[in-house]
Amino acid sequence: MTRTEPSGADRRAGRAIPVPPGQLFPGLEERTRNGLEALLPLIEKTFPIPARFRRALGKDVAELSRLLTSARGERSLSYLNRPPLLSAYLYYFLPWNLYRLCRLLPGLDLPLAPGDTIIDLGSGPLSFPIGLWLCRRDLRSIPLNFRCLDRSKGALEAGKKLFAASGGPSCPWTITTIHCDITQGVSRPGQTRGAALVTALNLYNELSFSPGDDSGQRRFAHNQAAFLTGLATGDGRFLVIEPGTPPSSRFITLLREALIKLDRPPLSPCTHCLPCPFPAVRSSAARRDAKWCHFAFDTEDAPASLHRLSTAAGIPKERATLSFLLAGPRHSPAEQQSRTVRVISSPFPVGGGAEGRSQGRYVCGEQGMALLRGEEPLITAADPGTLLTVTFTGEQDPKSGAPVVTHAGP
Ligand SMILES: C[S@@+](CC[C@H](N)C(=O)[O-])C[C@H]1O[C@@H](n2cnc3c(N)ncnc32)[C@H](O)[C@@H]1O
Repeated sequence: MTRTEPSGADRRAGRAIPVPPGQLFPGLEERTRNGLEALLPLIEKTFPIPARFRRALGKDVAELSRLLTSARGERSLSYLNRPPLLSAYLYYFLPWNLYRLCRLLPGLDLPLAPGDTIIDLGSGPLSFPIGLWLCRRDLRSIPLNFRCLDRSKGALEAGKKLFAASGGPSCPWTITTIHCDITQGVSRPGQTRGAALVTALNLYNELSFSPGDDSGQRRFAHNQAAFLTGLATGDGRFLVIEPGTPPSSRFITLLREALIKLDRPPLSPCTHCLPCPFPAVRSSAARRDAKWCHFAFDTEDAPASLHRLSTAAGIPKERATLSFLLAGPRHSPAEQQSRTVRVISSPFPVGGGAEGRSQGRYVCGEQGMALLRGEEPLITAADPGTLLTVTFTGEQDPKSGAPVVTHAGP
């Protein structure tokens, strides 16, 4: 990973991120946490809900949660144009999405330079620009052009209002909102240059899923890879974030495969370009063993007011999950990291090792999935998503068949 190496730092301004190399999902910086904390009252002030509707907020959040998950089929295309559902999104889903973003973005290599364009597809209430503003202070003095696309005009307008309220009058970022259906085609920004970064957050699960039709999904992923590539500059990057569910992870795996074919290999979380060892496919022989690439992290450091809101809505949140892919051209062979693996699972007890009481974690690397085995606290201390250097022991885990590795250093 080059996350902390300022290659071309003079060209690219936003790279000095105080995150240890190899760490994904660092805890929130104090000022980012304060910014998130301050956003909730700002949401209340910018989008006041009359007292008589306020009592229904918990119920509306629960209903929107249902429509976004188990009852997708009942959701209309313009659900965010319905005021109670938009309020539920602004008061609950937006802050939680911003929290996830503020945990993820500081650990990603997102080089942006003055004048760069960022296209955010399915932007909703501008969650990406607001999240970037909150957690990448080093970008606050750089002029950036955001083009935020969504089919819900109400969500875009709400986002514009909120961004103006949080960014303040001296913000050098320009935000252009575009009310459109992205499946009808989108033209490249400007006449010549494309976007330095194309993002799509929590969008594709609204577009793509007929989970039984894997070849249809693959075709869709290949079309989207071509679409995303067409919007970006030659060295542009793509960031796709989805809920950490098997169908969403499956889509990301297929998109990754398609982007590799277009010479846009994964930069994170993958450490390699080989087929994904967590393909989220359930063969009938291995129904219970299907594994999908996703990350879960605790939410202890989320603002207390956000936790209170979740409890009131009956959806307490101790852990946040997501699947994601950052892709783009590789710049140097140093980024290939052949013996580096990324921690994928939480710790669990495994046999073997001293007194047969070792801890294990599943990890993902060039060799596919492996079982990292060792003693506490070495194995348990690494946060999910951390990159580690490992040594292969030559053993095989009898349960999963994965090769066993031990920790050789950060
Ligand atoms: C779950 S919201 C995510 C919003 C925001 N990106 C976030 O992460 O908070 C999904 C958004 O995608 C938009 N969307 C869904 N299908 C779309 C399409 N075909 N064209 C444009 N926007 C679409 C919806 O209107 C909604 O705002």
